Amino acid sequence: MNRFDQQVVIVTGAGNGIGRSTAFAFAEEGAAVVVVDLNGESAASVSAQIRQMGCASDAIQADVANESDWIDITERVLQRFGKIDVLFNNAGVGGGSHRILDLAVEDWDRLIAINLRGVFLGCKHVLPTMIKSRGGSIVNMSSSTAGWDVIYGGGAYMASKEGISGLTKNIALEAAPYGIRVNAVCPGIIETELSASQVSAEDERGQAFFDHFRKRIPLRRVGKPEDVATAVLFFASEDARHITGSTLLIDGGQTLQSWSNAPGEEYPLHLQE
Ligand SMILES: NC(=O)c1ccc[n+]([C@@H]2O[C@H](COP(=O)([O-])OP(=O)(O)OC[C@H]3O[C@@H](n4cnc5c(N)ncnc54)[C@H](O)[C@@H]3O)[C@@H](O)[C@H]2O)c1
Repeated sequence: MNRFDQQVVIVTGAGNGIGRSTAFAFAEEGAAVVVVDLNGESAASVSAQIRQMGCASDAIQADVANESDWIDITERVLQRFGKIDVLFNNAGVGGGSHRILDLAVEDWDRLIAINLRGVFLGCKHVLPTMIKSRGGSIVNMSSSTAGWDVIYGGGAYMASKEGISGLTKNIALEAAPYGIRVNAVCPGIIETELSASQVSAEDERGQAFFDHFRKRIPLRRVGKPEDVATAVLFFASEDARHITGSTLLIDGGQTLQSWSNAPGEEYPLHLQE
């Protein structure tokens, strides 16, 4: 018996990185997985791999910032599978490195629309189904920047992630009477395209960038997408039946020391100019 047998799980941003890894982890534990991504090709590829694993899966190309896309997602999932047990609101974009003074209003609006409005819309459109079935679990993707880490030039990103942590607690309170749990994961740096793209110069990307963090993280490793997936599955499962409104830091101890008090260590690469 697997933890997610007979369960229907939606993962947004599942075409790549943490979302993809989590989609595979849910499938390995028996779930039918709906792979949502802005990039239709990568969504289709992940979904096809899940079907090859012997699990049911659909791919949906959608922009989580659009309400009409969420109406489409929920209609299609209910038509195909008849219910929604788990929603992982993972899709998000990185903050780049723009000081507030240099940040264009449209860039602020787009980031907040994807990272924060996208999570609000996902909860708003999936909750009615969960309320009807008197149960379900939502896991939102926040970040260590929601109260622990600070990214220089990452004001919009940090605002979006702090917002998600607050929203998670609020929705947890509203959804609890229906037996629905809502929690958030807060990863530190995880080895994905998004974190690599925070570095502006091409030659600083890749292993050199991650090696740098490896030296600075107390557990001496950079997180992998699978490290986040295990936490998401925990929150989504019966193992977490008494946990709601919680935020879980997954950072190898990255935030236990401030950047400024580690003698002999270099300044993070992406902050050098
Ligand atoms: N990588 C890290 O270090 C890290 C740390 C903390 C939090 N996070 C968060 O984890 C989440 C996933 O990040 P990742 O590192 O796996 O990134 P990634 O870039 O590897 O994957 C993100 C996926 O989301 C999709 N996406 C982007 N915008 C979308 C939209 N509007 N609608 C639907 N899909 C969209 C992309 O196409 C991509 O497939 C993000 O919310 C990010 O903020 C990442």
